Amino acid sequence: MDHFLYRDGALYAEDVPISEIAAAVGTPFYVYSTATLLRHFKLFDDALDGMDHLVCYAMKAASNQAILKTLAQAGAGMDVVSGGEYQRAKAAGVPGEKIVFSGVGKTADEIRAALTGGIRQFNVESEPEMEVINAVALELGMVAPITVRVNPDVDAKTHAKIATGKSENKFGIPISRASEVYARAASLPGLEVIGIDVHIGSQLTELEPFELAYTKVAELTEQLRAEGHNIRRLDLGGGLGIPYTRSNDAPPLPVEYGALIKKTLGHLGCEIEIEPGRLIAGNAGLMVSRVIYVKSGEDRDFLILDGAMNDLIRPAMYEAYHDIVAVQEPKAGVEQQPYDIVGPVCESGDTFAKGRNMPPLEPGDLIAFRSAGAYGAVMASEYNSRPLIPEVLVHEDQFAVIRERPSFDEIINRDTIPTWL
Ligand code: LLP
Repeated sequence: MDHFLYRDGALYAEDVPISEIAAAVGTPFYVYSTATLLRHFKLFDDALDGMDHLVCYAMKAASNQAILKTLAQAGAGMDVVSGGEYQRAKAAGVPGEKIVFSGVGKTADEIRAALTGGIRQFNVESEPEMEVINAVALELGMVAPITVRVNPDVDAKTHAKIATGKSENKFGIPISRASEVYARAASLPGLEVIGIDVHIGSQLTELEPFELAYTKVAELTEQLRAEGHNIRRLDLGGGLGIPYTRSNDAPPLPVEYGALIKKTLGHLGCEIEIEPGRLIAGNAGLMVSRVIYVKSGEDRDFLILDGAMNDLIRPAMYEAYHDIVAVQEPKAGVEQQPYDIVGPVCESGDTFAKGRNMPPLEPGDLIAFRSAGAYGAVMASEYNSRPLIPEVLVHEDQFAVIRERPSFDEIINRDTIPTWL
């Protein structure tokens, strides 16, 4: 459920008409709903009720300061994967003890900054990285809390580019080698082993892969405890999928996911961490764009928008489906017609949808891409020298620009000219 609904024939974000935001900030833009963000966070938090737990929002999904602050104030921790994300989390007021540092290639500088600024734990992804974390901790006279990310060799049954839990993927250490790696970790004086981490992929639409992975984590917990390690925290990653279409086969709900966690891992008495990103932010955001031209091709009509692949890359990159709706609600009974919906970038890949049925649209009409809150704005670029599009946050009947659209001068002035020119 989200808070983008039609009222009297017009699409609203909570209590604000989308057309009012478009008039104020211009198009294209991203808009997020505070109520939806909070609702989704709470679904996870409630799903783990009764267990010692922390929901660490995977901020790679949408990392605007205002979004982070909204979630942090509700009690969320953060999962970060770079020095930049760590700084963003701190700047939004998240205390170090609620920040988890994931990611396959943490540099010594990033590790140093996190240790100095405070960190809940590092999720170690390889043995060389473990050695570096140890060395940096010793250099600072500190002890770094760690989990080791194990790769359970489970098929997440999702798009190949976002599956991470098979042995051919670059993530974690093979679960078969865990014993050896934990023994090495325990011998390093700069590290304190506190638990196990796993993340098998994103946009999972079934519980079965989670069940396979978490069952392996439960067995590993008992094995490592028997080997003398004090395993007391389990980080279970993110990955629960969202409905991108309006069909009935929606992915499992957070409450079902929570029940699975309790079933597979509840008996171990560990503190549980999860790192959802997409489910918190995905359906809490729209990308709004305007039709510039309707062009009749030989065998099809094109809707040419002012938004493009640089603003929302998911369709071009993952063949992702986004529901696209007219901001002015189509009149009942109006006949839909197929359009190829494209942006102005000079690549055929700049296509959002082919043969998509839409009500008849005209230049100037507003349309909205649904489920664009996660991996939308954060993956945008300025390709074709198109400015990064603004982000807007709605809270009941108020809205605020939470990132401005840069001017052309600001973009150009980021470049510097060498003295010989
Ligand atoms: N934890 C780790 C270690 C991750 O790598 C990820 C996502 C998450 C948590 C959050 O997963 P989520 O709950 O959002 O599924 N750009 C792609 C998705 C990339 C996901 C990368 N890792 C897309 O647009 O579909």
